[in-house]
Amino acid sequence: MELFEAIKNRRSIRAFKDKPVPEEKLMKILEAARWAPSAGNLQAWEFIVVKEQKLKEQVATAALSQWFIAEAPVAVVVCANQNRSARRYGERGRELYSIQDATLATQNMILAAHAEGLSSCIVGAFYEEEVRRVLKIPEGVRPIAIIPIGYPGERPEAPERYELSKVVHRNGY
Ligand SMILES: Cc1cc2nc3c(=O)[nH]c(=O)nc-3n(C[C@H](O)[C@H](O)[C@H](O)COP(=O)(O)O)c2cc1C
Repeated sequence: MELFEAIKNRRSIRAFKDKPVPEEKLMKILEAARWAPSAGNLQAWEFIVVKEQKLKEQVATAALSQWFIAEAPVAVVVCANQNRSARRYGERGRELYSIQDATLATQNMILAAHAEGLSSCIVGAFYEEEVRRVLKIPEGVRPIAIIPIGYPGERPEAPERYELSKVVHRNGY
């Protein structure tokens, strides 16, 4: 799949077929994540792969009952390893770089999933402490996104984007 086409045609999918994600596809998606750029190459990301049904349901509940998470065959919880970035970069590392690293890995993941014929959705609305408890995430590691992945069970239209003229500023804001 051509990159620009992949970027444009990827959609957030919130309904999944009851069909497992092959392990080699999942590994390819995680491999793509691993090759994201990161501040100082610290790779301040962690990926929690959740396949167990009960756990997925607990994660979905923590995500304001966005139940499509539990219906996807797999959900990856992307975390920022804030401690790793803070050790080198202090507060900016903890509060910004680690989140950026994990976010870039997330973008690679959703594009790779799309290229593999799979779909996903970035879910950011969740009770962090609840996700932390359910998945035993330690202090200094912050869950930033839940990514349900599976075969698409819907084909939504592309939501509109702002025109470039509204968001591109030349030579200053
Ligand atoms: C930081 C972030 C948080 C998001 N959180 C949610 C969410 O909690 N639930 C959801 O259904 N979609 C969520 N989305 C998906 C957006 O709604 C979606 O990307 C946007 O509407 C554009 O649609 P598209 O991805 O199909 O282009 C989130 C996306 C981002 C980037």
